[in-house]
Amino acid sequence: MNKPKLFSTHVLFEEPRRLLAEHFDVDYWTGSERPPRAEVLKRVAGKDALIPLLTEKIDAELLDAAGPGLRIVANVAVGFDNIDVPACTARKIAVSNTPGVLDETTADFTWTLLTAVARRLVEGDHLARSGAWRQWNLDMLCGTDIWGKTLGIIGMGRIGRAVARRALGFRMRVIYKSTSRAPAEIERELNAEYLTQDEVFRQADFLSLHVPLNETTRGLIGPAELAKMKRTAFLINTTRGPVVQEAALVEALEKGVIAGAALDVFEREPLIPDGLRRDNVVLAPHLGSASVETRTKMAMIAAQNAIAWFEGRCPPTILNPEVWPLH
Ligand code: GLV
Repeated sequence: MNKPKLFSTHVLFEEPRRLLAEHFDVDYWTGSERPPRAEVLKRVAGKDALIPLLTEKIDAELLDAAGPGLRIVANVAVGFDNIDVPACTARKIAVSNTPGVLDETTADFTWTLLTAVARRLVEGDHLARSGAWRQWNLDMLCGTDIWGKTLGIIGMGRIGRAVARRALGFRMRVIYKSTSRAPAEIERELNAEYLTQDEVFRQADFLSLHVPLNETTRGLIGPAELAKMKRTAFLINTTRGPVVQEAALVEALEKGVIAGAALDVFEREPLIPDGLRRDNVVLAPHLGSASVETRTKMAMIAAQNAIAWFEGRCPPTILNPEVWPLH
């Protein structure tokens, strides 16, 4: 029997590749760079399943190019703002993401950024590495304390909670705003106080964003929000770039409205505006979930979702379950 045809826009890792080989006739994009759009449109034609990365825009044009056989788009990411889910649903195409497996890894990285910007690690590394460091000095590269400060979290979902849990070790006060308030036992466990968004902006020494990108959160942090923050506060963004109005952030940094920022995501990746290349900004190229263990798990979940569909099971992390009974 012919196996269903799958296009994966990345070679993935060995474990998911082995698993996929048992179930699909797989066409992998093997280039070291992301595939050009024209190549994706060409290679997806006639496929039954698609495993894209978050860099691929899955829209009506791509779905048309795929043709009527496409049954599932199994994104290798928890965020799915790259996918037009309603367009998939209208064509009865399942969409899945990879929730759960990257929470702790992304929380680790949020803290990597937070501690780096607070304690000026990148500046220190440059100095140490350059050979220009001459002597220890009392006031050299003094940063700001983390312990005992206030951590503000916008979006107390799985990742926000994992970030808050780590703050306990730093003996911080944790305040948060989320679309829905966390259950009382979670607030107790995390020692987290639910405040209005305004109060979180006003009181946080470190403000960390953990909302998904959607039409409500796009541009959430603009000039007015930045103006509410303390002049000594830092903004940490490991979710999606467009949640922050980048031009407003550049202006706030230039004018000293806030003390600094640590950013893993940008409005138009991989473009980073020159105004963000500053000593008080730590920059990372979207590495939040980038551990070998976690990225392998993410690819495995995408593979398992695609397999489930063709074995007649509902994909475990389907985003549009309404397409399932119609299969
Ligand atoms: C990474 O950014 C993800 O959404 O998984």
